[in-house]
Amino acid sequence: METVLSGIRSTGHLHLGNYFGALRNFVRIQDEYNCFFFIADLHSLTTHPHPDDFHASVKIILSEYLAAGLDPEKSAIYIQSDVPEICELYVLLNMLAYTGELERTVTFKEKVRQNPDNVNAGLLTYPVLMASDILVHRAQWVPVGKDQEQHLEMARVYARRFNGMYGEEVFPEPQNLVFKGGAMKVPGLDGSGKMGKSNGNGIYLYDDEKTITKKVMKAVTDSGPTEPDSPMPEVIANLFTLLKLVSTQDTVDYFTEKWNDCSIRYGDLKKQLAADICKMTLPIKEKIDAIYNDDAYLSKVVASGRERARASASATMKLVRKAVGFKAF
Ligand code: TYM
Repeated sequence: METVLSGIRSTGHLHLGNYFGALRNFVRIQDEYNCFFFIADLHSLTTHPHPDDFHASVKIILSEYLAAGLDPEKSAIYIQSDVPEICELYVLLNMLAYTGELERTVTFKEKVRQNPDNVNAGLLTYPVLMASDILVHRAQWVPVGKDQEQHLEMARVYARRFNGMYGEEVFPEPQNLVFKGGAMKVPGLDGSGKMGKSNGNGIYLYDDEKTITKKVMKAVTDSGPTEPDSPMPEVIANLFTLLKLVSTQDTVDYFTEKWNDCSIRYGDLKKQLAADICKMTLPIKEKIDAIYNDDAYLSKVVASGRERARASASATMKLVRKAVGFKAF
């Protein structure tokens, strides 16, 4: 069985971008692959969360993973910081990662622009830590959204470089595991290209009906089409992208027709979109609460995930240490 690995940072709740770009796919593939799904708490430290909030953030994502359908009987579900082998590999891969290429990473440049006062080395080497997460299990497949593809490409570079430098094929080159239509980019409601945690434009799995409806009704639109079959501006195309994710084909066809003959009423489109989002997310939300309050269950899940992840990671580190030249005295 081939190995799949993926993770999500423990920052706030999961939004529809995380769900459709990643989590939904994790759930779908659990029977077909040897799966490792983790919570990237070390990655979340780049923004210095308060220690009082740190654990709760991990617990939230863990509960949301399980509520969405990740099954600890099938997949290893674990916390990144529970697997020290990842940090060891991170040190070794840092020796093969050049600062020039790290500085050119799109996400790094974006963060520098957004937070010029917090350009720490962890941020710079973020892709190296991510490569360590993946390579420590010698994973072949990594289901991620479009925004993570450059990081994945860097993981391939480090895998190749390591194998080349030490003359051993320790690591396979990990590929994005995408479903039909290619890697996903879920848009925000503010007309921006991407739904994101830091953009304040997200709908969360944990939002209640009132919040979801309010957010959707406030989504940016334009003054409407004036000529039949006119091209759709990005803000409207974004709403249709969301509609395609949560609604039936009939609903999508209905509103597409309305757009094409210029009779579309954005209020109706938004009401339908909000209702269909709620239909999908509210049953998950209900489960999140129950799981979040079941400490005994969560602690069992985490312990079994840690054990499976460490067994796999330590087997890889044996090969890595041998290739690098470590020897026992
Ligand atoms: P993170 O936590 O930002 O996002 C988690 C997953 O959600 C996807 N995603 C989206 N997909 C489509 N449209 C969007 N608007 C959208 N927003 C987020 C991301 O592509 C991702 O798949 N560095 C990673 C976490 C990580 C990781 C790893 C992932 C750490 N180590 C190893 C895979 C393998 C991150 O910050 O994702």
